[in-house]
Order: sequence, then structure tokens, then C-alpha cells
Amino acid sequence: MGGRPKILLTRLFPDDVLARAKRDYDAILNPADVAWQGNDLIAQAEGMDGLMISSSNKFTPQVIDGLPDSVKILSTFSVGYEHVDLDAAQARGIIVTNTPDVLTEATADTAMMLLLNAARRAREALEMVSTGKWIGWKPTQLLGVQPSGRRLAILGMGRIGRAVAARARAFGMEIHYHNRNRLMPELELGATYHRTAEDLLRHADFLSINCEQTPETTKLINADRIELMPENAIIVNTARGGIIDDEALIAALKSGRVFAAGLDVYDGEPNLNAGYMDLNNAFLTPHFGSATVDTRNAMGFRALDNLDAFFRGNEPGDRLV
Ligand code: DGY
Repeated sequence: MGGRPKILLTRLFPDDVLARAKRDYDAILNPADVAWQGNDLIAQAEGMDGLMISSSNKFTPQVIDGLPDSVKILSTFSVGYEHVDLDAAQARGIIVTNTPDVLTEATADTAMMLLLNAARRAREALEMVSTGKWIGWKPTQLLGVQPSGRRLAILGMGRIGRAVAARARAFGMEIHYHNRNRLMPELELGATYHRTAEDLLRHADFLSINCEQTPETTKLINADRIELMPENAIIVNTARGGIIDDEALIAALKSGRVFAAGLDVYDGEPNLNAGYMDLNNAFLTPHFGSATVDTRNAMGFRALDNLDAFFRGNEPGDRLV
């Protein structure tokens, strides 16, 4: 490779991130911000040394097999990496990196925002006011669920799960969690550990999903497991949509078995299950958990740090394979 490495930025990342990429690389941008997939992604990668990608580009085994030999690294602008088939990348000797840590606080803020909006029936409240249907204060209007004194069950007590716990403690919630491994006391901070997801769900007045989507967690929250939860529970998901069985959750929201859900991520997004659309007790946001200027810049800079390390002949700090 002569001269500056040639990198493709598959989405229109924030301005400061693009500026740094253009300063340091022969950077090919995607000004129309098209979410390329499949053969289009392969075609765009022609002649590239590396790619800065996002969770909206699916690097299936077919796509990875079709990438030109020149592509040596995929640096994803995300902490999640289920959109990249790591085995296929490894088999082709392509390095994959992600951006942990930097989006912890913004995502935990979003989880808390969803929790409060779901618990306090914000979708109905907004609709009532914005459509002129509010005719005045009533003692029984829009009665919701109070978080304080209730149990928040956190599925996945990594960095984001722990940041959600810190916020929820300030709201007077009692923290329960399930994780592959029990945390050390200095990280657990008095939270109650449950060895199985099923046991956690039995204690979930509120559930916050903060684990990765893996084959084991795909559709983990299904009809049988929802049945384990206390009546009138609230489910919040800022992790990945595929962890929830949508049909099961929609049925539980319709019947009132689950009081409300706050969702930022969806199976098959952006084509979310239409069953959520008309449900007043589904508070829905468009996968924007990390969407603050500070966080998106930090994600981009971290993705570039990983590319910089690789092209300088060093080990990228966030190497997955
Ligand atoms: C992440 O970083 O994983 C966010 O969900 C954006 O893809």
C-alpha cells in the first residue's frame, strides 16, 4: 500500500469525525448516507484498505467473502457487532474492531428515559396534549407506575447495565441482575445477583435489557419468560431488538399482562413489527441510544483510533478478531 491508506466510510458520520478521517486518510465518503448492503457494499469496498462501518451495514459471510483482498480491517462505529460475522472475517484474516466504553452514559440515559416514559404513560400523555384532547386535570388521569421502591432487573450487567443501575439507584429502585458471571462487590454495589435469567425475571417489576445479542440471547424474552414476570411489569430495551420475541411482547402489552414497554431497538429495524404502532403502552424511539453530539464524536474518534493503530502497524485497542 503506497501513500495514505484508502478507507471507505460507509455512512455519513458526524462532521468532526469526517474531518479527522479526511485529514489522515484517503477517505471515501457516502454523502447521500445510503445504507449499502450486499453486493452494493462489496462494490463500494473495491480498492479500499479498510472500512469504517456501522450497525446498519450487514457484513454477512457472503458479503465478507466478496470483499476485495485489499480490505484488511472493518472498524465498526458501534459497541454492538452482531452485524459482522466474526468467524467469516477471521477466516479471511480481516481484523474487526468496535467502540466500547464511549457510549455507556448516553445509552444508560436513554434506558432511564424509556423507563420513565413507559412507566408514566408518556405516549398517551403526549397524544392527549398534542391533539387537543386534554380537557383538564383529573385525579385519575394517566395513572402510571412509580419506580421508587420497585425492583429493576438488569439483564446484562456490563458497563451499560451498571450505568443504568447507578441512575436507577438515584430513583430509589432496588437493583437485581443476571450476568454470565457474578460481579465483584465493588461493582455489584449491593445489587442482588440471579444465576439464571428466569430467576431474574421473577423479580422484574422493571426489566432493562443490556446484554449483547448472541444465539443464546436471541428471543430470550419470549412468552414463557414474560409469564415469569410479576403482573404489570415494564420492559425496556436499549440493547438489540432480536432479544425480544415481538409477537409475545405485543400480545402481553395488548392484554395488559405487561404494563408498558420502552423500546429503542427492534428486530429487523427499521421495519419494526407493525403490532407496536397502535399500542399506547409502547413508548418507541428510533435506535438513538447513543445519539448525542459528544457520544457520536467519541464513537467516531474511537473507530478512527482503531484504524490509526492498525495502519501504523500496532494492535488496535478494541480488536474483536
Ligand atoms: C451500538 O453502538 O451498538 C449502537 O447500538 C449503534 O449501533
